[in-house]
Amino acid sequence: HPLSIAIDGPSGSGKSSVSKAVARSLGLAYLDTGAMYRAATLWVMGRGIALDDQVAVARAVKDMPLVQVLDPVSPGVELDGIDVADAIRSADVTTNVSKVATNLDVRGELRARQRAIIDQERATGGFSAGRGIVAEGRDITTVVAPDADVRILLTASEEARLARRSLEVNGTANKEAVDSMRDQVVRRDRDDSTVTQFTVAADGVVTLDSSDLDFDQTVAAALRIVAK
Ligand code: CDP
Repeated sequence: HPLSIAIDGPSGSGKSSVSKAVARSLGLAYLDTGAMYRAATLWVMGRGIALDDQVAVARAVKDMPLVQVLDPVSPGVELDGIDVADAIRSADVTTNVSKVATNLDVRGELRARQRAIIDQERATGGFSAGRGIVAEGRDITTVVAPDADVRILLTASEEARLARRSLEVNGTANKEAVDSMRDQVVRRDRDDSTVTQFTVAADGVVTLDSSDLDFDQTVAAALRIVAK
């Protein structure tokens, strides 16, 4: 029977790396929905559309030629056949992504695509040949796949999340480096939380607090939740 796992969480909670590891360990496909909002932002910016022009932004995203490779060992993101895995992590895209992600028509379009990918992996075809999928983001446990077999909210204290992001982006977690991440991370979470609810677990969603766990311990804890 195909397995579907939904994992939500704020930035720096470790949800991407943990979700990938869980998918690898169970032989499932991996869907990074944040990458879709990032790709949409890159696509719209590249067309010179003003990000606050809701109608033009939504129209451009409807036509966005996005292809994702669902392999958890090397996930891929292509726009119009071009590899944009690095470009969607640029500081410019990170700064602007919440503006695009809070456009409700954009969300409608991307949620429909996410749903189609999840359904495809639950059917016999798809990347996982019907074994199933781990999908991660901010509204997967609540809106995109509330019917997933396993739903996890991955949390961590603000300080732990800032330290992890700083290590990723700056290569260090000293005080100055951590403080430099504060605006980006905290502001984005605040903006995002106007349209998605990812700080409190919804009914039936298991909270996994990783503040005091290292990466391996967090993956092990997630796998225990799946095995239950
Ligand atoms: O960098 P981080 O891991 O925090 O974020 P991400 O997972 O790459 O997602 C980037 C952005 O996409 C978020 O800041 C949200 O604005 C948006 N997003 C969303 O609105 N809904 C989702 N299911 C996933 C991401």
